[in-house]
Amino acid sequence: MKHLLKLLDCSTDEIKQILDLADQLKYEKKHNIPHPLLAGKSVGLIFQKSSTRTRVSFETGIYQLGGQPLFLSARDLQIGRGEPVQDTARVLSRYLDGIMIRTYAQKEVEDLAKMGSIPIINGLTDFCHPCQVLADLMTIREKYGKLAGLKMCYIGDGNNMANSLIVGGLKMGLNVSIATPKNYQPAAEVLAFAKENPNFFLTDDPFEAAVDADIVFTDTWASMGQESEKEERQKAFAGYQVNDALMAVTKPDAMVQHCLPAYRGQEITEKVFEEHADEIFEEAENRLHAQKAVMVTLMGNK
Ligand code: CP
Ligand code: NVA
Repeated sequence: MKHLLKLLDCSTDEIKQILDLADQLKYEKKHNIPHPLLAGKSVGLIFQKSSTRTRVSFETGIYQLGGQPLFLSARDLQIGRGEPVQDTARVLSRYLDGIMIRTYAQKEVEDLAKMGSIPIINGLTDFCHPCQVLADLMTIREKYGKLAGLKMCYIGDGNNMANSLIVGGLKMGLNVSIATPKNYQPAAEVLAFAKENPNFFLTDDPFEAAVDADIVFTDTWASMGQESEKEERQKAFAGYQVNDALMAVTKPDAMVQHCLPAYRGQEITEKVFEEHADEIFEEAENRLHAQKAVMVTLMGNK
């Protein structure tokens, strides 16, 4: 694996290897076993959008691996004043050992990978959020001891999270059911991939998607960059809340996952959120272990 641009590019084996390494790094961290696998290496973290988890998990993660992070806010980089990504990529490739970028257009991440000569990690675009979904798969596997055969549903916007969950879930053998309003379906490229797979189901009925689910996912109704659409989205997604009525049709001990930040009273009720807070914050913690595994896989000595 050279880059992590989107899960569509990753094989089942590659995903599994990252999850296995993430489990090992988590174990070592819990037992205070040092793992300086990236000693002397630097990762640049370019952010064109806000972040809590992604920034902090990458910064502390590389430090725990013996390397150093450089937080590069797009507001301060010359990118913010119009320096082309192609030039930035070629310059940063000469200083750094890897770049994580969070931005709007997927093309920008793909261009960085084409023009630079170091590993590029997608820290979220409008299209996908592969780092998050690796942590999600890790969290699910921790609870159930397996992935294949479980039923995962996603209720809400067919956004970056939905796109990555569909691809990651199907590649790891889960049954993936998605409920979105008709005008907010996942990306066409993802649906083209998923429709080949008998384990994929798409509906506009949240209850139909949630029946007998082992895992329930949701995400904000208005992602970063969609702030001006907040009101119309609240109307469109009104029936797509993860609440007690929805949880009543899932498996009795179903797990709830949310990439965070969560908007209580919108995509999820306070009650369901708090009842599943342990699982949701374990998922957030696993960003650290999963991101370390991604960096070691891409930036470690081969
Ligand atoms: N889930 C997630 O990516 O969180 P941040 O936006 O805080 O990084
Ligand atoms: N779909 C959300 C995820 C945040 C981690 C967004 O893009 O804002």
